[in-house]
Amino acid sequence: TTSPRIAVIAGDGIGREVVPPVVELVDTLLRHDGVTARWTTLDWSTERYLATGEYIPPGGLELLAGHDAILLGAVGDPRVPDAVSLGDLLLRIRRHFDQFVNLRPLSSLPGVTMPLRDGAPFDLVVVRENTEGEYADIGGRVHAGRPQEVVVQTSVFTRAGVERLLRFSFQLAARRRGVVTSATKSNALRHSMVFWEEVAADVAKDFPGVEYRHVHIDALAAALVRDPSRFDVIASSNLFGDILADLGAVLMGSIGAAPSGNINPDRSQPSMFEPVHGSAPDIVGRGIASPVGQLLSAVLMLDHLGLADQARRLDGAVRAALASGDAVTPDLGGTADTGGACRAVARVLGAPVP
Ligand code: NAD
Ligand code: IPM
Ligand code: MN
Repeated sequence: TTSPRIAVIAGDGIGREVVPPVVELVDTLLRHDGVTARWTTLDWSTERYLATGEYIPPGGLELLAGHDAILLGAVGDPRVPDAVSLGDLLLRIRRHFDQFVNLRPLSSLPGVTMPLRDGAPFDLVVVRENTEGEYADIGGRVHAGRPQEVVVQTSVFTRAGVERLLRFSFQLAARRRGVVTSATKSNALRHSMVFWEEVAADVAKDFPGVEYRHVHIDALAAALVRDPSRFDVIASSNLFGDILADLGAVLMGSIGAAPSGNINPDRSQPSMFEPVHGSAPDIVGRGIASPVGQLLSAVLMLDHLGLADQARRLDGAVRAALASGDAVTPDLGGTADTGGACRAVARVLGAPVP
């Protein structure tokens, strides 16, 4: 795409602090290369919900459909239950556009304080199922508040859904270091996870060059902390991948540093790029949020848009700015603020931002 159409939803909390400077930076980078992105800024947020009763206005999903990508900040505000804000905005977009892959690359960064002092560098990708599984949103509650109360929350695993996620994981591993690890729990979840392992074993037959293993989610969490460098691609269900990605993000140094892409690989519908972190109400308004997760999400977006060279340069600039110390915010062990970190990245790119 020479003129990509990008919808921007800053959302809530620190999303509103990290998204504008990142859009500015990406726009400058693209213009310098003669690429004019067409940005659509959408004020879909809790502020708007409190004023209008809606997170997504009528016709909003159709509007998004006319874009090549969506760049999102974060959603969530203490004034509205999370089940409402996230369900009406974030999860609705993921489902509506069948963004069935949640791609979460996790890699060690230069110049930051990592919790595992002697850890080897690592570079892995969590490929999280993003439309079904534990997030199927099927369940119910009877006798609320009474002693006989019963609550049911059902997980749904379809053959088509599990197979496409695993196929994507193996294809990705084939272009990387050739190892897929499935997160399972077939010792206790004898329906869903036994099925998951069967489908994975079938798909693995089509990829003889890729090494395949499955590890129970509890043991996998422990192994990740012990040595993340042993992993390449981790394929997981919706909830398992959600948890593993926060664990991996903090191994990078901070959950503010990890990016994600909600991807529909067939490209007939827009994919959505957002940091792994949330709206961080505890630090909002202080100007100290790390823009790194948002910046690396923009890297994933540029790649998805076919702007591989710009993606590579932005990724390199983020790492160089971190190595210099100028982009290291307090969560990563430094003293930079959000604006300073973005300016440091812009300096490396040779494209000063106001
Ligand atoms: P959170 O990610 O917002 O914050 C967890 C901790 O990490 C906090 O201490 C926060 O200050 C810190 N942190 C997060 N991002 C940071 C950054 N960029 N720089 C520095 N520090 C950072 O998770 P939470 O507190 O569980 O959730 C807060 C709200 O965000 C809730 O409403 C939740 O539902 C929502 N949420 C939204 C998303 C999303 O939009 N994709 C993801 C996770 C949580
Ligand atoms: C994430 C978030 C969301 C998720 C929440 C906020 C619904 O934690 O993007 O990781 O669980 O997918
Ligand atoms: Mn999460």
